[in-house]
Amino acid sequence: MRRQRPHRSEIIAQVAHSARAFGVILAATSTLAACSPDRAEPVPTFREDIAPLFAAKCTKCHDGATAAAGYRTTSYLSVVGCVAGVAATAESGPLLRALAGTHAGYVTADERSLIERWVGGGAPASRGGVHPVGFVDPRSPDSHATFLRSKRWTPMLDGKDSEACGRCHDGAPNRAAFTTDLPAEKRVTSAAPNATACTTCHTEPEGPLACGTCHGNGPRAAPPRDACFFPRPTSDAHRAHVEPSNAKKSGLACNTCHPVPSKVGDFSATHGDGAVQVQFNGLGGPGSKFDTSSKQCSVRCHKGQGGSRPSPAWTETEKMTCQSCHSSPPPAHYKSACTNCHTEPDGTGAALAKTDLHLNGTVDVGNGNPGCGACHGKGDDPFPTTGPHPAHAAPKSSKPVECTTCHVVPTSRVGHPSGKAAATVTFAGLATWRGLSPTYDATTKTCSNVYCHAGAGGALTAPTWVAGTVVCGSCHSIPPPPSHTTSTGCGVGFCHNGAISGGVITTKGAAHHVDGQIDLNIP
Ligand code: HEC
Ligand code: HEC
Ligand code: HEC
Ligand code: HEC
Ligand code: HEC
Ligand code: HEC
Ligand code: HEC
Ligand code: HEC
Ligand code: HEC
Ligand code: HEC
Repeated sequence: MRRQRPHRSEIIAQVAHSARAFGVILAATSTLAACSPDRAEPVPTFREDIAPLFAAKCTKCHDGATAAAGYRTTSYLSVVGCVAGVAATAESGPLLRALAGTHAGYVTADERSLIERWVGGGAPASRGGVHPVGFVDPRSPDSHATFLRSKRWTPMLDGKDSEACGRCHDGAPNRAAFTTDLPAEKRVTSAAPNATACTTCHTEPEGPLACGTCHGNGPRAAPPRDACFFPRPTSDAHRAHVEPSNAKKSGLACNTCHPVPSKVGDFSATHGDGAVQVQFNGLGGPGSKFDTSSKQCSVRCHKGQGGSRPSPAWTETEKMTCQSCHSSPPPAHYKSACTNCHTEPDGTGAALAKTDLHLNGTVDVGNGNPGCGACHGKGDDPFPTTGPHPAHAAPKSSKPVECTTCHVVPTSRVGHPSGKAAATVTFAGLATWRGLSPTYDATTKTCSNVYCHAGAGGALTAPTWVAGTVVCGSCHSIPPPPSHTTSTGCGVGFCHNGAISGGVITTKGAAHHVDGQIDLNIP
């Protein structure tokens, strides 16, 4: 693969290519076109000319994590790559712009013209030698990435290949020191000359075989690639599925939509064959389809009730909304606030407050529990924790009050909930004791004539449905009005012996208190 120094026309082609695609610093192509080939001075290179200059004049401000403008002048790739947060166009690359503007005093006129000639000449890394000039530059058609892909990576995988990278480079997958996974005949063990180790740049633990190398970035396996070197794709569907904001936090596994290589460096099946075989696992739902020409998906996740975009294309850029997959609420759905029956959305269904149950493959109500407690209550127990419900579920000084005292209880979830805006209160049992006809006013939330509360002389015999309003004395005065005795020695002799002691209902007493019977002595 030894190559001659590139011909000028190749450099121009490379500059044009790079400037078109990236426009980061490759601005001054015209300077090159204006020179005649004979008088052209050799194009400066990063290694020989630019790196020493930058080390002397720039690196004190442009190095490490705190580099000024996020721009590091310490390596070729960082110099020609992105400038974080800096907008760049082909006409005004940030490097030449800085040198003409804020940085005008930092370099001499000669140094500036050297940098301009380097940029104009395609910003080569080196003069080339073993490899073509553009071998290290991912933007170049000669890059090692393009070269390796065109050979289906054989030179880095197979030690027998005549161009085996591991013959000279440490950190190459086909060097014994790098992996013991490879069969012996595929490894290269000879000593390396002074060539940069692959792992100098490919710093993930798997080196160049890291999943991010060929179609992701750093530790991220899924596309897109590093935007500093590869034109940003218009759609970012992978990110939406792999790191979604609207669904289960963990995102979808790669094998939801296509096969995944079984291990690092496995290209034995369809992986890396030049085509993606989209096939959905169970989560896509029965009958899910992908149309390879229109790139449209037809999958359960997007095909809810009443959604406006049931078969989106993988290349679409418009964000999904709450109305895209299903309408929110679905057509002819229950009328009250979503939060009565679902934990994920806000009350109106315009946003998600929690995402863990959303898009998990099952339609969930409440907290996802199959029991009655999913929407109100806990586990299988439907007793709500709202308002004075807990006080009735576990009163301090009487027996628990059954649901049926205040509501008709559904026997199954079929037909329940009805979706009416609020619960219906229908008194029965203890509430109607002594032939009373209790009523509930849903507007004022007031209970009247309820056996338990409407005692003699009580301070609050028609309480409202608000926690903490009812105390000792609310339901009946203490003691009750005459003809009851005015004696306060309730717990003595033949009165309420055992039920009450020192003005407090005893545990024994609580079992009989508010049970529909006036208990005198409790044995
Ligand atoms: C004294 C510190 C200092 C030195 C030395 C320095 N820079 Fe900078 N550089 C900065 C700061 C601060 C910024 C951000 C603000 C600005 O653009 O001036 C910056 C910004 C830049 C930018 C981004 C320009 C943009 O469009 O935002 C580039 C490119 C750059 N410098 C290149 C260089 C080069 C090449 C050298 C050496 C010749 C150099 N700098 C020397 C401090 C320095
Ligand atoms: C015959 C030995 C040899 C083989 C085989 C070889 N290289 Fe190199 N490579 C070198 C040497 C020596 C250098 C440094 C040369 C230079 O800087 O001009 C180098 C430089 C590089 C660089 C640039 C590093 C830098 O710091 O700029 C990359 C990238 C690279 N090689 C990748 C590969 C890949 C990929 C393969 C396999 C397809 C490979 N090389 C095969 C010897 C080799
Ligand atoms: C000077 C830094 C550097 C060195 C040294 C280097 N690479 Fe790379 N390599 C890159 C960059 C940058 C890319 C572009 C992709 C990216 O952003 O990770 C890349 C891409 C690749 C790819 C992706 C190919 C594809 O199909 O897209 C492979 C494989 C690879 N390098 C293998 C190697 C091997 C093997 C070596 C050592 C022989 C090596 N690299 C040495 C910087 C380097
Ligand atoms: C929701 C489905 C889905 C998930 C999840 C998904 N992909 Fe994809 N992927 C696709 C589709 C669709 C294509 C495009 C196929 C086509 O263009 O024909 C694709 C293409 C690709 C490609 C080739 C295209 C390119 O830009 O290089 C790679 C590589 C890839 N996926 C890797 C991954 C990895 C790695 C993961 C997991 C981290 C993942 N995908 C998760 C659906 C998915
Ligand atoms: C040396 C380059 C390279 C490496 C390393 C690599 N892949 Fe791929 N992978 C590709 C290419 C190229 C494609 C594009 C589609 C194709 O050619 O199969 C791809 C496609 C995929 C796909 C889409 C399905 C398919 O088979 O097309 C998945 C998923 C995937 N890769 C996962 C991984 C995972 C996981 C790792 C790390 C264990 C990994 N890749 C490492 C080159 C690579
Ligand atoms: C009274 C209870 C109740 C209320 C209120 C309610 N839902 Fe539902 N929802 C359900 C039940 C039960 C289901 C399960 C299946 C069914 O009956 O449609 C469901 C299912 C759904 C589904 C899945 C539809 C499907 O099958 O793909 C969506 C989406 C949904 N609800 C959204 C909403 C939104 C948005 C709101 C608020 C505007 C809301 N719901 C209010 C009870 C309710
Ligand atoms: C990518 C398609 C998609 C988008 C976008 C989407 N949903 Fe859903 N949603 C579904 C699917 C599919 C279900 C049914 C099954 C499930 O959860 O997997 C569902 C179910 C629901 C449910 C019923 C409870 C449940 O999780 O099963 C509610 C409520 C809901 N969505 C609200 C919303 C809201 C609010 C938004 C906007 C923030 C939204 N959805 C955006 C696809 C989507
Ligand atoms: C002492 C009477 C009483 C008992 C016992 C009672 N509730 Fe209620 N419940 C009410 C009242 C009053 C309301 C408020 C109705 C309104 O808002 O107008 C209510 C409201 C509700 C609501 C609507 C949502 C809420 O939290 O406000 C549900 C659901 C409910 N009750 C379920 C139950 C269930 C299930 C049980 C038994 C396990 C039970 N209740 C026991 C009186 C009672
Ligand atoms: C999907 C959420 C959900 C589930 C599951 C659920 N409920 Fe309800 N429940 C409600 C809502 C909402 C109300 C308020 C009235 C309505 O919309 O029907 C309610 C009201 C009630 C009431 C008050 C009386 C009424 O009908 O207004 C009782 C009692 C009750 N539920 C018991 C149960 C029992 C028992 C189960 C299990 C068989 C159960 N609930 C399961 C949502 C649910
Ligand atoms: C929620 C209403 C209510 C509250 C609050 C209440 N009581 Fe009662 N109490 C009743 C009713 C109704 C009776 C009638 C007998 C029955 O049904 O147990 C009663 C009966 C009694 C009796 C007669 C013994 C018995 O159990 O029949 C005593 C003593 C008594 N209450 C003491 C108290 C004391 C002390 C307090 C405060 C700690 C209190 N009560 C709070 C409703 C209440």
